[in-house]
Amino acid sequence: MLELKEVSFIIRKDGEEIPLIDRVSICVPKGHFMAIVGPSGCGKTTLLKTIAGLNPESSGSLFWDERNLSEDGDFSPSEIGYVPQFSIAYDPLTVDESVEAATRLRVRSRNLAELDSRIDRVLEETGLSPINDRKVKVLSGGQKRRLGLAMELVSDPKILLCDEVTSGLDPRSEREIVRLLHDLSRKDGRIVLAVTHSLAHLELYDSILVLHEGCLAFHGPPEQLTHYFSVHDTEEVYPRLATQPSERWQASWQKHSVFYQKMLTHNRERLVASGALQLPPSPPAPAPAPVGDESAVQPASLSVPIGPELPELPGFYSQFVTLLSRRWRIFFRDRGQVFLQLAILLCFPILVTLFSDKASGNIRRYSDTRQTDVFAEIQEQQSVRADQAKVGSAVSGIIMFQVVLLSLMGSNNSAREIAGERPIYEKEKFGGLRPSAYLASKVAFLACLVITQSLWMAFFVNFFGTFRGDFVQHAGFLLLVNASMTAICLAISALMRTAEQASLLSIYLVGFQLPLSGAVLALPEHIEAFTRPFISAYWAWSGSVEALQTQVLDAVKSVIDTGLSPQNACLFTLGAHIGVALVAAWAGACRPQWD
Ligand SMILES: Nc1ncnc2c1ncn2[C@@H]1O[C@H](COP(=O)(O)OP(=O)(O)O)[C@@H](O)[C@H]1O
Ligand SMILES: [Mg+2]
Repeated sequence: MLELKEVSFIIRKDGEEIPLIDRVSICVPKGHFMAIVGPSGCGKTTLLKTIAGLNPESSGSLFWDERNLSEDGDFSPSEIGYVPQFSIAYDPLTVDESVEAATRLRVRSRNLAELDSRIDRVLEETGLSPINDRKVKVLSGGQKRRLGLAMELVSDPKILLCDEVTSGLDPRSEREIVRLLHDLSRKDGRIVLAVTHSLAHLELYDSILVLHEGCLAFHGPPEQLTHYFSVHDTEEVYPRLATQPSERWQASWQKHSVFYQKMLTHNRERLVASGALQLPPSPPAPAPAPVGDESAVQPASLSVPIGPELPELPGFYSQFVTLLSRRWRIFFRDRGQVFLQLAILLCFPILVTLFSDKASGNIRRYSDTRQTDVFAEIQEQQSVRADQAKVGSAVSGIIMFQVVLLSLMGSNNSAREIAGERPIYEKEKFGGLRPSAYLASKVAFLACLVITQSLWMAFFVNFFGTFRGDFVQHAGFLLLVNASMTAICLAISALMRTAEQASLLSIYLVGFQLPLSGAVLALPEHIEAFTRPFISAYWAWSGSVEALQTQVLDAVKSVIDTGLSPQNACLFTLGAHIGVALVAAWAGACRPQWD
């Protein structure tokens, strides 16, 4: 049984406390199908999230069986299914693949046959078997809602919360979905709570809860709804609600609630007796509490342990592998994304080689034989210096160009990676996905991109204009700058609210790398000292320049104003950038971010 006792959810706005849910008390027995209705903005979604544990209740208590959810912790991920208003599946995947990934992420299966039978059963139950190989993006509204349900049913939740799963559907699909929800509540004593704006098909529910401005206005059998509100038709309930303030409805309900609860119990007994509702055998009843002993009402010893029948969550490695293989599948299915990655991979190094001609010029030395006259000697010195400067600035420029392009690739790799799928990730986290497995799958996926991009850039450019120095060190710094920018933008992606914000910030970050690196424009020293530690491009450029042979290094030093740093310092700083960014990404991934 699910029980809410005087549950409120209060927010603070401009120093004022606003109750979005105001002292709601209800009892929902096992095997019950309840609708939560009310005008738009009355708090239906907020109530559902409060029950799910996504909105921590400000006061009051929630009980699940004998367990006090407010004190003993929320539902375990396998106990509860939550179907939100938005789609929780990836468009490029098929129905089958979506349900399979959901199963692999939520349920530990002993073998493949067990996994397959679970998937087949859920597809069958939700009527998706005939279209199991269809891509999500071509599904109709009703089919998408069924898929959302299927992805929740994989763990056999004891309580299923559905938010507006019928909104925007044609009347026939709407009825089919309500019927499906009804049938789901008839199995294994599952409780199904469905938020709906629509007042159609109410007769299929066991009870209707009417909310008005966060207050409970009614909770009783559907056939009593019109009688309670003194209207002829259910469609008249909302206009009727608007005739009184919510406090009046709340007060009026408090007077009648006992009567209607009795009626609900009576209806339920009738259903069980007729066999229309089958309940699982109930656990032995706890000993009654002595009268007046308040502490004995909900003793901790009565907490129902998570039974062995609850499916176990898969381990870190299993979730990691599922996510990584799904990420690659989505990547290869998205032709635009693959094409863009290939175009960047090919074009950026070609662009660099177009400029590499001057950088490969020879550096002349002063001739050993002294010139015959002073004028000729000065002329030669100037000419040698001019040549040295040309080659030096070209070499430095080419290195910086590679560094900046790899930074750009890094931001393109990861800026949208988490922010672009945040609602789905939050949903999967609610279903038991470990943030560590999620982040590890992102790091593994991005590491493949980073390694391919950086090494290809280094080798391609080296092929057309050999790096005059330690190539391995140079390639290492290119790899590090791409990894650093990818990690930083991944952190931004994990911390920002929307994919647009994350993309914009990442692009600005890359845009400022070049001017703030000091390699092209000299900054005032006091500003440079402050900005430099944060500019990955500087450290990668400086490290690469330090890897040049002495003669070329001298040529570069002759044209740059800015100081170079020792290679170890460059290595350490870029490593620190990656480390700090990954910690920030981890913090962002752990932080709940539903809206
Ligand atoms: N976290 C929140 N902070 C501030 N206002 C909120 C929050 N969540 C919901 N609201 C507001 O509370 C009201 C009820 O929202 P909601 O539960 O989504 O309504 P419904 O689902 O009934 O349409 C709305 O006015 C909404 O803007
Ligand atoms: Mg809503």
